[in-house]
Amino acid sequence: MKLSDIKRVLILGSGTMGRQIGFLCALKGYNVVMYDISMEALEDSLKGMEDLGSWFISVGLMPQGDLNKVMGRIQISAVPADAAKEADLISESVPDIPEIKAEVFAKFNKLCPERTVFTTNSSMLLPSMFAEQTGRPEKLVALHFHDVRTTNIVDVMPHPESEPETVKLVRDFAESLGQVVVMLNRENSGYVFNSMLSALLMSALTLASQGVATIEDVDRSWMGVMRTPIGPFGIMDQIGLSTVWTIIDYAATNTGDPQAKANAAFIKQYIDSGSLGLKTMCGFYSYPKPAYTDPNFLSGKGAGR
Ligand SMILES: NC(=O)c1ccc[n+]([C@@H]2O[C@H](COP(=O)([O-])OP(=O)(O)OC[C@H]3O[C@@H](n4cnc5c(N)ncnc54)[C@H](O)[C@@H]3O)[C@@H](O)[C@H]2O)c1
Repeated sequence: MKLSDIKRVLILGSGTMGRQIGFLCALKGYNVVMYDISMEALEDSLKGMEDLGSWFISVGLMPQGDLNKVMGRIQISAVPADAAKEADLISESVPDIPEIKAEVFAKFNKLCPERTVFTTNSSMLLPSMFAEQTGRPEKLVALHFHDVRTTNIVDVMPHPESEPETVKLVRDFAESLGQVVVMLNRENSGYVFNSMLSALLMSALTLASQGVATIEDVDRSWMGVMRTPIGPFGIMDQIGLSTVWTIIDYAATNTGDPQAKANAAFIKQYIDSGSLGLKTMCGFYSYPKPAYTDPNFLSGKGAGR
């Protein structure tokens, strides 16, 4: 299969990332089907994609009049057999748990045409952890996005059984979406950027969970020295606290590391009180105007003082 054969993209999971990737694909002219086990998430994703479209217009990345045309390329479906029909490429964004990814891919392996290429947007898992269960390991490659409003850097990462033609096709597909590909030569948990970022986020959580410094001062320190508009706790709010917790809890359970467990428990308190980050307008910070965007934040007079 070549790039021009890809017409229809199936997105598995319509949460934070699925909807961003789905919108990006529709923006670049692909027909998109969003699939999720939750009808509520699917309906919410349509609203989320319209909002994303307004953002693309506001920053000049999409002409004003194009939103209806782009949204017209997007369908939603909670029926696997319907969603799978004529899919040329899957982009999977279900929770970062190997058993869930394996189960979803195994289901769609039976329903999708033989040609369908499978990609995973997993943040920290390796494709080889669930490649066999997909039933088509040679057609599985990781294609990992970041927040599409922040960057167009993506990772393309094969696993040992990915066939070279599929790796090239996935790379071409990513470039057709206007993305800049960071190509991994071998599997690495967290690819390139996330493997650096996860070390930062774990350090920030350790500082806060041990009571060394407040959340605001941890962010103030990073933002002030690195001259960045956001610190590690702000970043976690943007990622979504349930996604961050899933990743840390999985690592904590596998390694038995007591500090990783304490960091997972630290985030869990927020989740249990319904604060999931930006998606619920409340996490470590309150939105739409989180304290770290206040001009006073770095002057030493802002929040947490
Ligand atoms: N949030 C981020 O910033 C970010 C960035 C890059 C990659 N990722 C990765 O993307 C993936 C999804 O993360 P997210 O933050 O979008 O999660 P999310 O919780 O916002 O969305 C996950 C969606 O998957 C759905 N789902 C759960 N089980 C399913 C199943 N069996 N079949 C179909 N849908 C199912 C849920 O209903 C939900 O809508 C994860 O692997 C994560 O590591 C996340």
